[in-house]
Amino acid sequence: MSPTTTANGPGAGWVDRYAETMMRTFATPRLVLVRGEGATLIDADGRRYLDLLAGIAVNSLGHAHPDLVAAVCHQIATLGHVSNYFATPPQVRLAERLLDLLGASPGGPSPGRVFFTNSGTEALEAAVKLTRRTGRAKIVAAENGFHGRTMGALSVTWKPAYREPFEPLPGPVQFVPYGDPEALAAAVDADTAAVLLEPIQGEAGVRPAPEGYLSHARAVCDRAGALLVLDEVQTGIGRTGAWFAHTRHGVRPDVITLAKGLGGGVPIGACIALGEAAGLLGPGQHGSTFGGNPLAATAGLTVLEVIARDGLLESTRRVGAALAEGARGCGHPLLAGVRGEGLLLGLALSAPLAPQLAAAALRAGYIVNDVTSDTIRLAPPLILRPEQAEAFIADLPALCEAATATEQTGSPS
Ligand SMILES: Cc1ncc(COP(=O)(O)O)c(C=O)c1O
Repeated sequence: MSPTTTANGPGAGWVDRYAETMMRTFATPRLVLVRGEGATLIDADGRRYLDLLAGIAVNSLGHAHPDLVAAVCHQIATLGHVSNYFATPPQVRLAERLLDLLGASPGGPSPGRVFFTNSGTEALEAAVKLTRRTGRAKIVAAENGFHGRTMGALSVTWKPAYREPFEPLPGPVQFVPYGDPEALAAAVDADTAAVLLEPIQGEAGVRPAPEGYLSHARAVCDRAGALLVLDEVQTGIGRTGAWFAHTRHGVRPDVITLAKGLGGGVPIGACIALGEAAGLLGPGQHGSTFGGNPLAATAGLTVLEVIARDGLLESTRRVGAALAEGARGCGHPLLAGVRGEGLLLGLALSAPLAPQLAAAALRAGYIVNDVTSDTIRLAPPLILRPEQAEAFIADLPALCEAATATEQTGSPS
């Protein structure tokens, strides 16, 4: 897709400079963004957009949330970084809070332990290393699953185009069709260290686990003595209207990975091990210079506090349901259905026109994501207001029409 705001305005220079300086790992930027407030983003040319992507499910509190700004400013002015030779109160408090949310507090029946990272892929690296400490090596992961781009996380990521240029990757890893209980049971054996699954496959186009699949995975792991690792990097921290997406399935994983929404835009991730798994990584077996530094931990604490204080789980369920219902009732033949939970939604299209629809949306002032050729992903800030969702729904039929017209004429209508 061609850049929108950058033809001649102030944005143009930035895209050229970007092209000359940045490694060519990403596509041409669609916008040059300079400011955000709530669920609104503003580009270098002064155009405003409703942000229905939140930096890929990251900006849980939207942009420039006053509590997050105040907490992070105060923390950087007090103590920004010390390394893991030292403890800091924000780091300990965030670990305690996360364990509390998982029912894994110290002294409880199934206490857990937290390892903080700076990203989702690092949370997966920690999880993959932890599984090796079972004395087994094999990981069973899902087709179409995405877990990150570093070598360990890439080894359990399915997409051949991401993996093949970097082989050989760590292993053995066996991929099974997501949602197929028999295939999972057949793959897990006495050599299996762990089964690794997303409760909703985000990058695959927002594909939720079928009912019963995660509890089946739990039973299969228990039978084989394998760990169940749930990757909640995209689904965790309120995104689906619950603190963690897996709780609705009534399963208790051994390991859970988090990132994205946890810091509300400040980079932080976590690998959390529960029960016996909490003892698997021992002294010196993993590390990070930045992981859990007081700045990022403060951001995490503030995100958790604001979500609880402002009832954002409830409003995520409510606004998400309205968004899903509105999209379902859109009435345009391009919209074939809606998948997902809370504010992680996939609009399934009847034709591979997601790039055209995302481009039409951008021209109309909406940031959405063509996560696959036939799926639009919506992952807005959890602070999205009902009227903002309604505005998008009202415009959706026209956006679908514009996407269809673009396909027919080859140029934006
Ligand atoms: C489920 C899941 N795991 C891991 C990752 C990797 O996270 P990061 O991009 O922060 O490394 C992602 C990113 O999209 C993800 O969706």
